[in-house]
Amino acid sequence: MLAVENLRVVYHDVISVLNGVSIEVKEREILIIIGANGAGKTTLLRAVSGMIDFYDGDIIEGDIKMEGNSIKGLDATDIMKRYGVTYVMEDRPVFWYLTIEENLKAASFSRWDKRVKADMEEVFDYFPVLGALRNKKAGYASGGEQQMLAIGMALMTKPRILLLDEPSLGLAPLVTEELFDIIKRLNASGITIVLVEQNAHASLNIGTRGYVFETGRIVLDGAAQELLENEDVREFYLGSGEKERKSYKDAKRYKRRKRWL
Ligand SMILES: Nc1ncnc2c1ncn2[C@@H]1O[C@H](COP(=O)(O)OP(=O)(O)OP(=O)(O)O)[C@@H](O)[C@H]1O
Ligand SMILES: [Mg+2]
Repeated sequence: MLAVENLRVVYHDVISVLNGVSIEVKEREILIIIGANGAGKTTLLRAVSGMIDFYDGDIIEGDIKMEGNSIKGLDATDIMKRYGVTYVMEDRPVFWYLTIEENLKAASFSRWDKRVKADMEEVFDYFPVLGALRNKKAGYASGGEQQMLAIGMALMTKPRILLLDEPSLGLAPLVTEELFDIIKRLNASGITIVLVEQNAHASLNIGTRGYVFETGRIVLDGAAQELLENEDVREFYLGSGEKERKSYKDAKRYKRRKRWL
């Protein structure tokens, strides 16, 4: 459905962040992307969604295709309207001084049809807590509620693919669980999901396939279950190797074992 081919991205003409990244997103899957801080996950989503120029970034090589059509360099609104690719940024972008309901209305700016009200009720079906707070200012909502609102706003654009950037960041485990359940339901309703997460265990558990990112490259990919069982993923992302490392010697072994580098 969506193909990223050999993508290279630089910031400010010199800072090279993605060094030839290729990924494929299949229709109706939940694709998980995990990787350390600064690996380039957010940069990838910015490039795909057409937001990269807002951050002084450039795609200097490669292509991004939606069902065979290149969307590289198109305007972000175009990518959303024409191709149904909607990006939920990592820092929960909601309008603090607007109510929950006003936020949802604002997010339907790109639409001409009159179904906005009905779609808003659908968002409240997925996120009942937002319905209960519909007339409250978003700035007073909790982190979890703001994250749900950010996803609700993305739903108002009627996406075919949702790009979610670390939605579980800073959320309590139970809220994360609830959020991931809703992501599964959204996927079951036909929306393809690309989920970037630090929370490797929980995300791979709801995912179909996954990619592991390290410093601007993909070092591993496979079925989500396979990645959960992979020794390196277990050690570096699921924390299972921590106890073994007690000295510098172990740290050296740690580096050596990081064989995908
Ligand atoms: N606008 C920018 N200008 C210059 N460098 C940037 C810019 N945005 C990101 N970077 C750098 O690009 C690299 C990748 O950043 P990116 O945010 O894509 O990583 P990430 O994998 O999403 O990390 P995290 O898990 O911390 O969110 C980092 O070294 C970061 O400092
Ligand atoms: Mg990021």
